[in-house]
Amino acid sequence: MTTSPRSETVPGWLRVRELMTTGLLAQAVTVLCDLGVPEALITPRDVVALAKEVDADPEGLVPFLRAGCAAGVLDEPEPKVFVLTELGQVLRADHPESVRLLCSLTGREEFHRTWANALHSARTAEPGFPIAYGKPFFDYMKATPEFAALFDRAMASSAAVDNLLSGYSFDGARHVVDVGGGRGAMLTAILTRYPHLRGTLVELPHVAEAAREVFAKAGVTDRVTVVPGSFFDPIPEDGDRYLLSRVVGNWNDADSVRILRGVRAAMDADDRLVIVGNVPSGNDRTNYPRQLDLYMFVLLGARLRDYDEYEVLLREAGFTPTGMTNFPDSESVIEAMPA
Ligand SMILES: C[S@@+](CC[C@H](N)C(=O)[O-])C[C@H]1O[C@@H](n2cnc3c(N)ncnc32)[C@H](O)[C@@H]1O
Repeated sequence: MTTSPRSETVPGWLRVRELMTTGLLAQAVTVLCDLGVPEALITPRDVVALAKEVDADPEGLVPFLRAGCAAGVLDEPEPKVFVLTELGQVLRADHPESVRLLCSLTGREEFHRTWANALHSARTAEPGFPIAYGKPFFDYMKATPEFAALFDRAMASSAAVDNLLSGYSFDGARHVVDVGGGRGAMLTAILTRYPHLRGTLVELPHVAEAAREVFAKAGVTDRVTVVPGSFFDPIPEDGDRYLLSRVVGNWNDADSVRILRGVRAAMDADDRLVIVGNVPSGNDRTNYPRQLDLYMFVLLGARLRDYDEYEVLLREAGFTPTGMTNFPDSESVIEAMPA
């Protein structure tokens, strides 16, 4: 019985008023996820039974459930009876394309306090996160294990494994060095697909430790070297494919060039750099790349770059781009060779 707003033309002030409160729908979806509502609503449930199951108050839960309906992830087929819609299935933790952990992550206080400083970012081009927390985003994570664990798990669950494996072939490769490879989700997938390959993971120590467990579970430990450390320090030289997945988009131009030059210094003429990252283009069907660009900016002082901007950055760091497989709205794959 969801009553969807009628689509006839409405005055601008009503549309903008709606716009200015749309973020609340996202926050409500985070609350529903953190309560475990998606799993409980695979079949229609009355709000009283639902509230008991997810440890919430029935009256407290109703506005959040109705916000979920407005967002399109829930439906209310009868008064105060709710069910997950087709769109809402990706909120389930066990869905193959689950965005559950990303929903939990983006609803965090750390993100809200960052947004509270967005005006400062616009005025100065500095990230808002350090104003709220006194240190840059990745330094904060080193000191906040609980947030870091959620971030790392959310990154692992959203790693662009399918894009990389369908957009790039490692057939002729010998050894992949995954630089800033998180908990190793991407490297594990590559090594599993290509049993002849060896791999090295370069990551900050607190993340690298958790990656060891991921490699062990996947049975690839004997082909992986874990190098705990910073990608601002010298990069291991024994690879022939150097992967930077969702890394360059986290840094401003000066730091990105430093990272790229560090990788370039480790490479021989026949080696290749593989960048995985969101590359906004006219082919995008959603506003997600624009919205992610904002996140990168206020959290990290970084920007998403289109292909031309990547080309400039790569040339400055001593690379010649050799091509891109573009995945609209999602992570593209760019290859470059030493210039
Ligand atoms: C957005 S995540 C991407 C993780 C992974 N490559 C992926 O695509 O899922 C960025 C990663 O960079 C790592 N990182 C940040 N600063 C680093 C540094 N100085 N040295 C090595 N890794 C770093 C973070 O720990 C994080 O895992």
